Amino acid sequence: MYQRIAALKDLKPGTTYFYRTVVKAGGTVAQGKAYSFRTAPESGKPFSFVLLSDLQQKQQILETVAMAGRQNADFILYAGDFQNAPWKAGEWFPVAGCFIKPEEKGREWFTAMQQTTDGAKLMQHMPIFPCPGNHEADDQRIWTDKELAQDPAKKTLSIYMQLFRPLYPEQQYQRNGKHWYSADYGDLHIVSLSVFRWHPWNGYEFPGWIAFDDTDPGSPQVRWLEEDLKGKTTAYTWVVQHWHMLNRGAEVWIPMSRPMTNPDNPTKVVYPLGDNCWNVLRPLYERHGVNGVNFGHSHVYERYLINGVNYIEAATIGNNYRDEKDPIHFSGNMPVVENNQHRSFMVVSVTPEKMEARGIRASADGDSTVATGSAFDTFTVAPLK
Ligand SMILES: [Fe+2]
Ligand SMILES: [Fe+2]
Repeated sequence: MYQRIAALKDLKPGTTYFYRTVVKAGGTVAQGKAYSFRTAPESGKPFSFVLLSDLQQKQQILETVAMAGRQNADFILYAGDFQNAPWKAGEWFPVAGCFIKPEEKGREWFTAMQQTTDGAKLMQHMPIFPCPGNHEADDQRIWTDKELAQDPAKKTLSIYMQLFRPLYPEQQYQRNGKHWYSADYGDLHIVSLSVFRWHPWNGYEFPGWIAFDDTDPGSPQVRWLEEDLKGKTTAYTWVVQHWHMLNRGAEVWIPMSRPMTNPDNPTKVVYPLGDNCWNVLRPLYERHGVNGVNFGHSHVYERYLINGVNYIEAATIGNNYRDEKDPIHFSGNMPVVENNQHRSFMVVSVTPEKMEARGIRASADGDSTVATGSAFDTFTVAPLK
């Protein structure tokens, strides 16, 4: 298996192109199927996109993703956690001889994302703008092994960044390397960040345990984000990041910043900077007119509206981690809508007049008055004048 990258130049906006891959090697010629894709439209023209995340070979991802592929969307925003162990090629692609749990066979990430079931059109037909999640770290032992967790040199993102190489031309794998980017698509500015850490199961936490990339004020990523948001010129702006801005899960009480030894109790830690998502990223989003921020990680559906910014975890794609006793976010904000009864994904339609988002029910399980395939949550955003 190998990866080929081709640059297509001088394409016209809003135009459908047909393509197929042709590989010549050792006198043989192999030809792929013919597919088509649409280029990004000019300003003022409508388009739509789908939010996905956290497939991780979970049950029901095939059905959910196939339904997302039947929405006639123009691109996919993917909020991290592609598989469980990125170094296992067999979790990305079907690979003979590579171990994958029997029940997860057929649910490899690329298998799920290239389905054609009942007319689904996915990655063969549209761009994807992903961000990395904690499951994209090359060596997953950094999250559970004390020694490895405290060694910044062990924190690398090489597998993920090579798979999505065109989005990360610098290929800086190390911690605080450039793991973020932005792009304009029609009237939308898209920002993809690298915001994730591990959630300390049962309070397993110690000094030096650090988030993967810094989000402290003045850190490379935050400096870049500020400049990027200042320079945008589009009517709408959307951010994708893996770690939740708000969430009812127990791990939100563990801040996104660097822990230090508690001076009053050396066996515990404190977080002098608090939660960087709330204290550093949120004010930037509010100040620069970001309309939507979507994230993953907790595998739930929750939507919040805080000071004009919509925060959505549309991540009940294949399973759900919500516990009924989970606390509300420390800010006191409750979700405007939460729905963890069934699997779902989100579709966002953009026109010059408005951006309209719809959470779509994707599975028949659970109690719901909304039919499978229909919207159970809708919100609208006005353009920046
Ligand atoms: Fe995650
Ligand atoms: Fe996840």
